[in-house]
Amino acid sequence: MHWPDPLDAPGAPPQAEPPPGCPAAHPDSVPLSGLEFQQTPSQLYRSLRREHGPIAPVLLDGGIPAWLVLGYSEVSYVTSHDELFARDSRRWNQWAAIPADWPLLPYVGHQPSVLFAEGAEHQRRAGVITQALEAVDQFELAHDCRQIAEQLIDAFAGSGGAELMAAYAHALPMRAAVQMCGMPAGGADTEELVRDLRVSLDAAEGDDPVSAYVRVQERIQRLVTDKRARPGSDVTSRMLGHPAGLADDEIVQDLISVIAAAQQPTANWICNTLRLLLTDDRFALNVSGGRLSVGQALNEVLWLDTPTQNFIGRWAVRDTQLGGRHIRAGDCLVLGLAAANTDPQIWPDGHIGAENSAHLSFSNGEHRCPYPAPLLADVIARTAVETLLERLPDVVLAVPPGELRWRPSIWMRGLTALPVEFTPVVG
Ligand code: HEM
Repeated sequence: MHWPDPLDAPGAPPQAEPPPGCPAAHPDSVPLSGLEFQQTPSQLYRSLRREHGPIAPVLLDGGIPAWLVLGYSEVSYVTSHDELFARDSRRWNQWAAIPADWPLLPYVGHQPSVLFAEGAEHQRRAGVITQALEAVDQFELAHDCRQIAEQLIDAFAGSGGAELMAAYAHALPMRAAVQMCGMPAGGADTEELVRDLRVSLDAAEGDDPVSAYVRVQERIQRLVTDKRARPGSDVTSRMLGHPAGLADDEIVQDLISVIAAAQQPTANWICNTLRLLLTDDRFALNVSGGRLSVGQALNEVLWLDTPTQNFIGRWAVRDTQLGGRHIRAGDCLVLGLAAANTDPQIWPDGHIGAENSAHLSFSNGEHRCPYPAPLLADVIARTAVETLLERLPDVVLAVPPGELRWRPSIWMRGLTALPVEFTPVVG
């Protein structure tokens, strides 16, 4: 992973005293961390909106200032004006204040992948991914996901209880993504990659995410070499065969981005949907009665409890105005996707939970989740939830809902654990 060197940052150098208007100059900047943020972010967004309007000064880990974009129309505006708010984080005017071990660095520091590319280069890289994903057969994917789900459930079905985050919600989309990229199911190599990806994305205590990430890169590099020699019907081979002629290194970077971008949000989408189904009477009663669909629960989660609650971010290309704020060149804007989805401006009567899909959970504009990916994610998440409910029809939470704990992540909204109980199923 490439960490940014402040010396090659194209933005203005940081200043000792923050000038007026800079988010750092706001004495009432709110940290986007801590217990209130983790457990009840919607309350925090509401009070930020009341106090600051659609753009609020916030502090990231270690007190690094940024703007949180809370308004639906402001997030839409920022994401559709790349000429003003761009993706290359080397523009940031705060790099000199950021320590080498800053926890957000792995996903905010510039990498030479599609995620941070801009303009024509971004179109080239994203175009290759889009076409490679477009050719994924959704029926085959559903079939593969069903098999993966069955195998994962088989491993705990006889025990009468499970912790679904580790045993199911994280494991399933990871396997699905790795298979979609052309790695065979069940191989020792595939299992090792799945383990290393998990550690590199979501390290637990005692894990070594950096060496896991190095092994991921090596394994994907081997996959690319193998598929160059023997192409198949998979995402990797299609990226290699694309007329844009991406170099192998570029494909390795972008494949890791695709797998990582698929795994975390889809896992938390599955988790938040299962939580809703298991805790909300409207859904629990109706799903067992067969009236309210899993599809409706999946969509409600994207509006009210989106896995991608914040996305870091965009960086101002030059001084500009946004939502009545003066934004300086090089300022960081965090896309407040969860806050924007629940913006009272789009829900004037206070009722949230639309049937449409105009939410911003997949972001918007040039860098939004590339078109076929939300459809594929829907196949993966829907198959995961439906298979679990079919196999374990009397599944219930093993703890009171109030005891469920949210992960301390600024990016993702998801649980640390989802313990459940059910009648053991043998055979
Ligand atoms: C099969 C599953 C998925 C795949 C393959 C996938 C792939 C990707 C890729 C390649 C990008 C980078 C786009 C770019 O920078 O041009 C991306 C961005 C993104 N994806 Fe997905 N994704 C998946 C699932 C999801 C899910 C389930 C969500 C949320 C519910 C989501 C939300 C996002 C967001 C918010 C971005 C950032 C866009 C931005 O910078 O504005 N993705 N995804």
